[in-house]
Amino acid sequence: MTNSTMQTHPTKPLLATLKGQRADRLPMWLMRQAGRYLPEYRALRADKGGFLELVHDSAAAAEVTLQPIRRFGFDGAILFSDILVVPHALGQDLWFEAGEGPRLAPKLVDHLLENLVPAHARLDPVIETVRQVKAALPAQTTFLGFAGSPWTVATYMVAGQGSREQAETRRFAYRDPAAFTRIIDAIADLTIAYLSDQITAGVDAVQLFDSWSGSLSPAQFERWVIAPTAKIITTLKARHPDAVVIGFPKGAGGKLPAYARETGADAIGLDETVDPVWAHKSLPSGLPVQGNLDPLALIAGGEMLDTAITQIIDALADRPHVFNLGHGILPDTPIAHVEALVARIRG
Ligand code: CP3
Repeated sequence: MTNSTMQTHPTKPLLATLKGQRADRLPMWLMRQAGRYLPEYRALRADKGGFLELVHDSAAAAEVTLQPIRRFGFDGAILFSDILVVPHALGQDLWFEAGEGPRLAPKLVDHLLENLVPAHARLDPVIETVRQVKAALPAQTTFLGFAGSPWTVATYMVAGQGSREQAETRRFAYRDPAAFTRIIDAIADLTIAYLSDQITAGVDAVQLFDSWSGSLSPAQFERWVIAPTAKIITTLKARHPDAVVIGFPKGAGGKLPAYARETGADAIGLDETVDPVWAHKSLPSGLPVQGNLDPLALIAGGEMLDTAITQIIDALADRPHVFNLGHGILPDTPIAHVEALVARIRG
């Protein structure tokens, strides 16, 4: 018996897959699995008064983290928080406009980073959430922490909100690369400390969300995505030799192989626009990948959903694979379709 076949029934199948083993059973979780499509989430959010109130209430955030595990038995639980808690801890104000999205002030397009007053203690409730989830999580469930990648977080810090094609931030980076480097470095340094604290408090692996990496030219992608991501991963692994990192450069497309080779990520998340057959051919052999069902296929359900699932599973059959969506689950996703998906992957 080889070493790898001996380990096909590990206590945490998702973690084993992220570490490069191909398990008998395909592990799965869904990005944004704790959220508005769940009635129990909406009830608790209404009770607490809002999304950020939930995030800052460790007991409530731990409860929300566990809701989808209880309901669906996913292999992974993702910490309930947001990528924008890092700008908040760097000293920006953070709030959510109903029906619109996040707002950060003062925005760095016209305010110096150096004039912000850091408030790192704003991350303390999130670390307390990690401790509470850790104490309550089933032994076979992998606990995932996360942070945004510096580029994606910077796009919100500079524009003060979500922005079309991240144009304001891309202009800023060309106009004043020295100032932009200071922003990226500040985010990267706090992200290292924050993820390190998450690991110490009990997460098994962490995911770096780079939702807007798709808007960068290849040279800018090297500079603002690959380099800071590599720095975060290298430093984290120096501090925690067993740290496991999933990189998710959404929209990176043809730049995925470079990202995989150069960042040191243990696993790569694919968004739904990536052909999994191409990904299997183009990414280093044996590198675990995660993804990549179109969240809209999950809403559609039926035969389209079945076919899409089969294509993904078949394309990635010869490498470690974590089944997931290509992006976050949408609020209008029918719960019955999630149940059908889980039954299908388990079956
Ligand atoms: O995956 C999970 O379930 C864990 C929690 C999580 C949230 N946000 C909770 C959330 C994670 C991992 C995120 C990541 C995040 N947040 C990203 C990267 C991933 C992606 O979706 O591209 C980004 C860009 C953000 C910033 C953010 N947070 C935006 C733009 C918004 C508003 C849009 C929206 O979906 O409402 C949020 C709010 C947010 N973050 C909600 C949740 C559950 C919805 C808040 C609510 O209940 O109204």
